Amino acid sequence: MIAIKDLSFRYAGAEKNALSGINLEIPDGDFLGIIGSSGAGKSTLTYALNGVVPHHYAGDFYGSVLINGLDTVDAGTENLSRQVGSVFQDIDGQMVASVVEDEILFGLENFAVDHTEIEGRLTEALAAAGIPELRKRAISTLSGGQKQKAAIAAITALRPRIIVLDEPSGELDPRSSRKIFEYLKELNEQHGITIVVVEQKIMLLCEFAKRLAVMEGGVLVRHGAVGEVLQRPDILESAGVNIPRVTTLGERLREKGLYSGALPHDLPQAQLMMKDVLDAKEARRAAL
Ligand SMILES: Nc1ncnc2c1ncn2[C@@H]1O[C@H](COP(=O)(O)OP(=O)(O)O)[C@@H](O)[C@H]1O
Ligand SMILES: [Mg+2]
Repeated sequence: MIAIKDLSFRYAGAEKNALSGINLEIPDGDFLGIIGSSGAGKSTLTYALNGVVPHHYAGDFYGSVLINGLDTVDAGTENLSRQVGSVFQDIDGQMVASVVEDEILFGLENFAVDHTEIEGRLTEALAAAGIPELRKRAISTLSGGQKQKAAIAAITALRPRIIVLDEPSGELDPRSSRKIFEYLKELNEQHGITIVVVEQKIMLLCEFAKRLAVMEGGVLVRHGAVGEVLQRPDILESAGVNIPRVTTLGERLREKGLYSGALPHDLPQAQLMMKDVLDAKEARRAAL
């Protein structure tokens, strides 16, 4: 479990806090989506989970972050990286090798994984990411989506219990974005890996994440199950977050007094809402 308690962080020399008074528990097996506008503190929050903050960025750090009981301030980054695998926003900056398999091998050797286990882990990670054919490919020749998968494969080969990703679909088209999320879902459901993902594409998050954390100006303004968080579109709007169009439609229908149920955040729910609206209309007509 990840337990963040009263966490505040201000980068050295910055005028204001990047994070202020964050309290958040992320249970094992969660699939948490972090949303918020640019500068809201999303990346800094991911840095607080993998120890980049405060170990690589100097600044004022208050409060605590415990990863399975391990305090990130006391733990070395090496130790933390065994618990938390990270896929950073700048994926090119993260990749160290020039060939896909070397990228994966590099991490395994770095973690001193027994050599009898290495080949198995390598093939397994490539297969799980759906890219076994890319094993010998030069990383520079990969598409954005392939590169993203190779980076995630390199992390999953290390078998962390938690994977943190910062805008993994940032440069991907809708289809590749979806594939990445399907892969994350599989890691989450079949391997029990906790997923924490910063993502701008709200519909994707609403479909795949279990819970959402909404950041605004360094503050965690809302956190809960996806359906719950979507019941307050006003909070999302003021945090500068796009709202799924089906949710906006629900709001409009409510304003007109045509609907009083829960706001939908995906298509199946929207269908149920429309059925509700049409049934009510039918009932009114019959009563005349
Ligand atoms: N290395 C840094 N040094 C100083 N300030 C930074 C640094 N990185 C980010 N910030 C500031 O911290 C705040 C949060 O940034 P960030 O976590 O990158 O937000 P997001 O990922 O939501 O866009 C912003 O005000 C940003 O300008
Ligand atoms: Mg960011």
